Amino acid sequence: MNTEKKRFTFAVLTLSDKGARGEREDTSGAYIKETLLKNGYELQSYSIVPDNKQRIIESLIELTDKQKLALIVTTGGTGVSPTDITPEAMEEVIEREVPGMAEAMRAASLLKTSRAMLSRGKVGIRGESLIINLPGSLKAARENLEVVLPVLVHALEKIRGETSDCGVPWKAVEEDIF
Ligand code: MTE
Repeated sequence: MNTEKKRFTFAVLTLSDKGARGEREDTSGAYIKETLLKNGYELQSYSIVPDNKQRIIESLIELTDKQKLALIVTTGGTGVSPTDITPEAMEEVIEREVPGMAEAMRAASLLKTSRAMLSRGKVGIRGESLIINLPGSLKAARENLEVVLPVLVHALEKIRGETSDCGVPWKAVEEDIF
């Protein structure tokens, strides 16, 4: 029997004009990489791209259609400043939105800061890839990622057509949420 656990591939895409120019240390991208590696995911790509809609679309299509990665986590560009363009790029790329994941991140974040309502980040699927937008600061990226981390493996298995039952023991549910 093959007992080896399947590892999901992932990319981190930091979206920041300053980061792309080398004027800002990418602490949130580094944090996301480390956290997912620690949780058993396999890093395939890490890059910093400026807040340019076309560049973001091209990067996301490369990571989904060409590299066929299971998970792409972006950080930055979700807010309301004139240069924040991540959600608009997502609209051109995703085929199916997963609004509950984005709503859950905002809901949990609102308990920490009312500024959470300013993030327009989306979560969606293209092909067999899940794309998650996190806000740009290290604090916000950490607080948002920890909300979706407990459901990620199940989501990625389902996206790849795994047909097992969604029911989990109550104890496991409690451990994930509380
Ligand atoms: N969510 C959490 N959990 N913690 C935060 O500190 N910061 C907010 C929000 N979401 C924040 C958060 C702020 S101040 C902004 S402007 C938006 O995310 C958008 O961030 P972005 O433009 O860097 O993506």
